[in-house]
Amino acid sequence: MTRDLRSVGIVGTGSYAPSRVLTNFDLEKMVDTSDEWIRTRTGIVERRIADPDVATSTLALAAAHAALESACVKPEDLDLIVVATVTPDMFFPCTASILQQSLGAAGATAFDILVGCTGFVYGLAAAGALLATGPYDRALVIGAETLSKITDWQDRSSCVLFGDAAGAAVLAPVADGRGILSYSLGNDGANADALKIPAGGSRMPSSEETVANRLHYLIMNGPEIFKFAVRSMAESSVEAVSRAGLSMSDIDIVIPHQANLRIIEAAAKRLNIPYDRFVGNLDRYGNTSAASIPLALDEVVRQRRIHPGNHLLLCSFGAGLSWGTMVLRW
Ligand code: ACO
Repeated sequence: MTRDLRSVGIVGTGSYAPSRVLTNFDLEKMVDTSDEWIRTRTGIVERRIADPDVATSTLALAAAHAALESACVKPEDLDLIVVATVTPDMFFPCTASILQQSLGAAGATAFDILVGCTGFVYGLAAAGALLATGPYDRALVIGAETLSKITDWQDRSSCVLFGDAAGAAVLAPVADGRGILSYSLGNDGANADALKIPAGGSRMPSSEETVANRLHYLIMNGPEIFKFAVRSMAESSVEAVSRAGLSMSDIDIVIPHQANLRIIEAAAKRLNIPYDRFVGNLDRYGNTSAASIPLALDEVVRQRRIHPGNHLLLCSFGAGLSWGTMVLRW
């Protein structure tokens, strides 16, 4: 069975972040760090932290409700739910399945994507392809994380970076020439060790020893990721923009993964895109991994900063090490 490819775009957005705020000054009391170091080295001022009894699907549910409301779509009309996360509620079933039940979207196919911070863009690409070819008509793509649960709060080199949040987008067929125009997805498995949780999987199952050695927490090689991030964001943006038949001057708004202000500034310089076209909220939320791009997207949508016909560049990097960049016409 063949079907003509349809244009697919974002028809609604939503987001949610827990109310509890953890400031740089709070962190000064927990590890050997300072507000000055965190602000100047990362751009982060504060982040949100979920309560201990809150799971990733709880944040995802709130973001999903907001996105569905803005798209005027009912949960029962969803055909597909994709959740991008590195902090699933549990190993399995997938968080999308748990969300399908809590949302009341019984008719939706549901699966997770585990590509770290790049997951939301991968989710848009995967759901977009399934909608473009059919048989699905309405998809919910969510990036949701409770990174506070996998953060080693004794490790100053990583614990100052992360926060909890969720962001969601509803995808549906749109007018020809609108929506997703192109993307560049990729992975460098040679650098897989740069960002990982070593224990708890089949390679190193959980044991008293792995817990004692704090191997269930995220570890990372910050400087290595920094270099990769700047390079991959710049190269994949050039590729995606060219695949869309556009040039950098056509890009109205860039939403980069919110990991480090210095990474964003360096990528902007390489791409020669004026910095005022970059949007974000890193100062207030820190790095929320797969939630970071949809959280920032929802913010600019609600501020009415995106207008019909605008070209958006979503630009992410993350565990893998992976990259995912997408161009959309709003
Ligand atoms: N407070 C004070 N000092 C610190 C802290 C801290 N929180 N963390 C590290 N330092 C110290 C180091 O110990 C080091 O001290 P030394 O020179 O005496 O050895 C010094 O600061 C410099 O450390 P670097 O690691 O070289 O600092 P850098 O400028 O590279 O900044 C950072 C570190 C912020 C982690 C940066 O490399 C970065 O942002 N990398 C990317 C990280 C990232 O994006 N990770 C996640 C990506 S994927 C995902 O989002 C899940």
